[in-house]
Amino acid sequence: MCDQISDAILDAYLSMDADAKVAAETATKGDLIIVFGEITSRATVDIESVVRETVKRIGYDDPSKGFDYKTCRVQIAIDRQSSEIASGVHQNKTEEEIGAGDQGLMFGYATDETQECMPLTVVLAHKLNAKLSELRKNGTFWWARPDSKTQVTAEYYFRRGAAIPVRIHTYYV
Ligand SMILES: *[C@@H]1O[C@H](CO)[C@@H](O)[C@H](O)[C@H]1NC(C)=O
Ligand SMILES: *[C@@H]1O[C@H](CO)[C@@H](O)[C@H](O)[C@H]1NC(C)=O
Repeated sequence: MCDQISDAILDAYLSMDADAKVAAETATKGDLIIVFGEITSRATVDIESVVRETVKRIGYDDPSKGFDYKTCRVQIAIDRQSSEIASGVHQNKTEEEIGAGDQGLMFGYATDETQECMPLTVVLAHKLNAKLSELRKNGTFWWARPDSKTQVTAEYYFRRGAAIPVRIHTYYV
């Protein structure tokens, strides 16, 4: 149900604004549904109606079914996408330049590129973040905040099926 509600909110925005940026998460417990996230769009969507319509479409329309779209509680905590994330992701960018936003990056494979058996790029990004944290905590980067981000891009070449890092192409801190 949570996935369907988040999808329905995204669809509602995209149907009115193809450039809408929608990060909507849904959680539910008991008769309460909470939608939270960040949305930037020219469109105006009645999110509560979208939530109730989705619950209705799924079929929860009576308290005897454990949930009722008419009486469930709906809480909405949606902000505009932060301008820092927006500018990193899509503002004034060509399709090739569009970057990652505030998502977690999952590396799901082991490799012998590093002692940690993780890709070199993620190991370096983690080390940069660890250093940032150390310097923030000891007062050198007194102006930094705990949500620092790093990104490392490496250039690889392929030899007999193995990817071998040859140089660091770019890093962001
Ligand atoms: C994007 O480009 C427009 C027009 O060139 C400019 O006015 C605006 O400040 C730019 N926005 C960012 C975030 O760079
Ligand atoms: C913080 O740590 C860095 C790196 O170890 C060191 O160069 C710097 O002097 C330290 N600053 C303070 C205030 O301890």
